[in-house]
Amino acid sequence: MQVDRVFTNCRVATMAAGHPGLGTIDRATIAVANGLIAWIGPSAEAPALAASETIDLGGRWVTPGLIDCHTHIVFAGDRSDEFERRLAGETYADIARSGGGIAATVRATRAASENDLVRLASARLDALAVEGVTTVEVKSGYGLDVETELRQLRAAGRLLAERAMRIEPTFLGAHAVPPDMDRTAYLDRLCNEMIPRVAAEKLAGVVDAFQESIAFSADEVDRVFTAARAAGLKVKLHADQLTDSGGAALAARHQALSADHLEYTSEAGAAAMAEAGTVAVILPGAFFMLKETQKPPIEAFRKAGVSMAVASDLNPGSAPIASLRVSATMACVLFGMTVEEVMLGMTRHAAKALGRSDIGTLETGKRADLAVWSVDRLAELVAKIGPTPLHARYLGGI
Ligand code: NIG
Ligand code: FE
Repeated sequence: MQVDRVFTNCRVATMAAGHPGLGTIDRATIAVANGLIAWIGPSAEAPALAASETIDLGGRWVTPGLIDCHTHIVFAGDRSDEFERRLAGETYADIARSGGGIAATVRATRAASENDLVRLASARLDALAVEGVTTVEVKSGYGLDVETELRQLRAAGRLLAERAMRIEPTFLGAHAVPPDMDRTAYLDRLCNEMIPRVAAEKLAGVVDAFQESIAFSADEVDRVFTAARAAGLKVKLHADQLTDSGGAALAARHQALSADHLEYTSEAGAAAMAEAGTVAVILPGAFFMLKETQKPPIEAFRKAGVSMAVASDLNPGSAPIASLRVSATMACVLFGMTVEEVMLGMTRHAAKALGRSDIGTLETGKRADLAVWSVDRLAELVAKIGPTPLHARYLGGI
């Protein structure tokens, strides 16, 4: 078999469905052609491989490149003052109602150029890359006007070309009502102007919304999702983060790719998600930073058979945490997820949350996005916080 590159002498966690645990292969070989996995399996069973390059991985572990399936990395400004205000007793919702929170980042982001946004987001992406992340979902939502929302999405699109990272842009115009607009007028603009434009200009394939007492109601999100689906876009939802507003069930009703946060989701909500195949994206960073006490119903998700992903939620307010690994550690310590669950949550299930079947597992025909680790046990990736154990990272085998 003629291929471009062969990786030998490694242990692989394929994360493939239908295999026990993480689908591990001892003494594995991975062959890459045209950016895809041409063959993967035990070295003893490998076909004759003719390659221009063979890379000996020295017995190291290989996993799929990690996927951060929920971030808000395109923004300007700083909100560390809000961290201090929360330490002094104000809540996230208090700060939002007083004109801070998302609105503060909107002011700074509107004042930033596309080049500024690309530069600021690049530094955040680099922090994720050094810990083995190869795909990042990137939301807009800090413009809340046509021009700035589209600028955020264009900046997200440029990151793919300028950084070795796959980017999945998501339109989050329904993040908050802009401070300078009436809510009905803004919803009209979202549904009649912004969503059709995002679809026509192919700036994002997915529409997200924030369903919450301080953001949009279930009826309003229903309207946004109906417009999104009419425009041929998929949907996902910030659901049940601070209160149970039935977000999980609404997401499921719209066949959402994922519902995210979910601290207040009920068992009925979990069952609806299972039925719809909606992924639960667990975001312990925001829970930690906001000193929340209500935990997402992990056991109900397990029982109902909901796929769980873990993401950083990297954003300037509730989760200024540029680390997917630390987020996974928190999902274990704070929410009781297992190491196996969070490993799948950063790979196969995160890919599902993005609606992608070409990444997230290491199987023939999938993209050769690899993270190579200098650890004896994969559990070390989440059992330790500190220097990255990443040895190398390949995007499409390169
Ligand atoms: O996912 N929940 C809403 N949106 C973000 C936070 C946005 C912000 O505070 O800037 C989140 O936590
Ligand atoms: Fe978020």
